[in-house]
Amino acid sequence: MNTDIQNRFEDAVKYDGMMTKVFPGYEQLPLLILSYLRKRVLQKTHLLDVGCGTGTTLTEFASLQPEWSFTGVDPAAIMLENAHNKISAIGAENRVKLLHGTVDTLPDEPRFDAATCILVEHLQPDNGAKLHLLEGIHRRILPGGWFVLFGLHGDLRTESAQNALAAWLEFTALQGLSETIQNNVRHRATVEDFLISEERIQALLQEAGFINIEKTYHLHLLGMWIAQKP
Ligand SMILES: C[S@@+](CC[C@H](N)C(=O)[O-])C[C@H]1O[C@@H](n2cnc3c(N)ncnc32)[C@H](O)[C@@H]1O
Repeated sequence: MNTDIQNRFEDAVKYDGMMTKVFPGYEQLPLLILSYLRKRVLQKTHLLDVGCGTGTTLTEFASLQPEWSFTGVDPAAIMLENAHNKISAIGAENRVKLLHGTVDTLPDEPRFDAATCILVEHLQPDNGAKLHLLEGIHRRILPGGWFVLFGLHGDLRTESAQNALAAWLEFTALQGLSETIQNNVRHRATVEDFLISEERIQALLQEAGFINIEKTYHLHLLGMWIAQKP
């Protein structure tokens, strides 16, 4: 994997504590996602989480959905190690498979009833890499299956995205995060990451083959979409 991304996620333990402070609603995200997915999928759903990181979402999903099974994939070994620990702590190893790699390295089978990709898409440049990620996910979902995309977005050349960024940074200040961390957050979002407009996300989802695309959440620069594979 790209070493920049490896370095960025090397401190997986600190990562968990930071996520809850930096991203409003991060702790409730698994519930938010399930509130859209549960009624759309089967009782025994097999869900793929692409870029599962330290397994926060998968652990919560596995606790709340005891009849479902899960596969998580992530290229950062240290993040996966933490995910393994969390899954073992709830005794769900038999229902949660964790794989080192990306969606490209997944075997062609099985395919999944549902997939999630949380805070990963904005890390990919819009030079074909975003589309490749979304197409790879689309390929691994069964016909009729559902996909939830969650991440940072916004055209930072616009006033509304700049206002959203300013409000987000204010939120991190209110959370008590230092100025250094606030500056890191700003630098990542504006320089390191590849945020694109809502319209472009919609277009990429369509190009990847998804239908019934619905934006279900928007706060600061965070957005969530649900979409279906025909
Ligand atoms: C900000 S973290 C989000 C982790 C997790 N989804 C969460 O919500 O906490 C981004 C994760 O994406 C992973 N990642 C980076 N590039 C990826 C790719 N091409 N495919 C899958 N995962 C990737 C990183 O290793 C990291 O664990």
